[in-house]
Amino acid sequence: MRVLVIGSGAREHAITAALLRDPSVQQIHVAPGNAGLAQLAPCLPVDITDAAAIADLAVELDVDLVVIGPEVPLMAGAANELESRGIPCFGPHKEAALIEGSKAFCKEVMAAANIPTAMAKVCTSMEQVTEALDTFGSPYVVKDDGLAAGKGVVVTHDRSEALEHARACLVSGNKLVIEEFLDGPEVSLFGISDGTTVVAMQPAQDFKRVGEGDTGPNTGGMGAYSPLPWVSADVVAEVTERVLQPMATALKNRGTPFVGVLYAGLAMTSRGVRVIEFNARFGDPETQVVLDQLETPLGEFLLAAATGQLTHFPPLRWRGGYSVTVVIAAEGYPAAPRTGDLISGIELAEALGNVTVYHAGTQLKDSTLVTSGGRVLSITAHADTLAEARNKATEGASLIAIAGSHFRGDIAQRAADGRISFN
Ligand code: AMP
Ligand code: GLY
Repeated sequence: MRVLVIGSGAREHAITAALLRDPSVQQIHVAPGNAGLAQLAPCLPVDITDAAAIADLAVELDVDLVVIGPEVPLMAGAANELESRGIPCFGPHKEAALIEGSKAFCKEVMAAANIPTAMAKVCTSMEQVTEALDTFGSPYVVKDDGLAAGKGVVVTHDRSEALEHARACLVSGNKLVIEEFLDGPEVSLFGISDGTTVVAMQPAQDFKRVGEGDTGPNTGGMGAYSPLPWVSADVVAEVTERVLQPMATALKNRGTPFVGVLYAGLAMTSRGVRVIEFNARFGDPETQVVLDQLETPLGEFLLAAATGQLTHFPPLRWRGGYSVTVVIAAEGYPAAPRTGDLISGIELAEALGNVTVYHAGTQLKDSTLVTSGGRVLSITAHADTLAEARNKATEGASLIAIAGSHFRGDIAQRAADGRISFN
């Protein structure tokens, strides 16, 4: 088959690399791509906010499948436009992608479908905000209703910081959601949905805070590992039954079937599993580790989902061992990342063996590789044990030189030491 991948991050780099391992995939184009993706497939320019331009490109390339990485083209209606041109698309229509595009909408669907989640109040005024903060107490959880690239959420003990974030959301014209704090380790679970049937992938854990020991502001994600030695297959089956499948069924019953990744962000609390959020796409950096583990041919799997064929699809096959990814971020990330810094040492990291460096914010300038975004590279390692995979990914990250860059040296540390539990 011929595939077009939309996006330009390390997630799309990992997706493209996995598609290339599938013998049924003959040709891949990527738009817009990055310097790393350009080594794997032709990269073409496209405005990812322009649904018609994406569909035009897919028609021009005569592809059999479009795989959409980021949320922005989904919210812009790229899947709607592709359907109208008769091209199978892995990624939901904009009406279904609203589970990510509006936290208030997502809460409403979850409540109606009895999906376990944090208690929440939608607020449109500061009066409602102060009342909701009093109801739920500290630590305060304040969320911008709309898309914010993982940075619209503030979790804090400081009431004035909570009020400040709420005020900023309201001033920018958005609603906000204030909710109960969920205590417990987080899990990211991808449910691949064809609109009716959902197939859960292997769970991963993401590290959202910028600093070691989970300190500093939230980011898009600074690292991840999969599988999770502390989450059993029974728990995954239970979450599929109580969270993923009810979400797919609820969206189908509303007349907006969801085709793509139902990404459940979960908190494993002492009172059981609770949904923190849903996203409408693969997570980044979780995809880098989940696809590193997947042995099932990815193109066949995503095409089956895009064409409503998942009930007939054989069970997923996994590689075994563990995969860990460590994100290298530019100076100033997440607040104000600096761009244009030289990147060197990628080949040293890959020479460690079983290490793949996926590109995100990279660009070739006069044949030199330089940074062009906040998250620059994802150093992904595979090994038999979590400790080995973690050490290798961390060592790989330390071999790469980018002025002012930073990465977390503690990705997967607690799990490798057996210090996380859930039952
Ligand atoms: P979200 O964009 O909703 O995933 O939120 C980003 C991050 O904020 C999550 O991954 C959590 O670490 C944290 N967070 C969000 N909601 C809650 C909550 N109700 N309780 C505790 N932490 C939360
Ligand atoms: N890693 C979090 C996300 O993709 O939203």
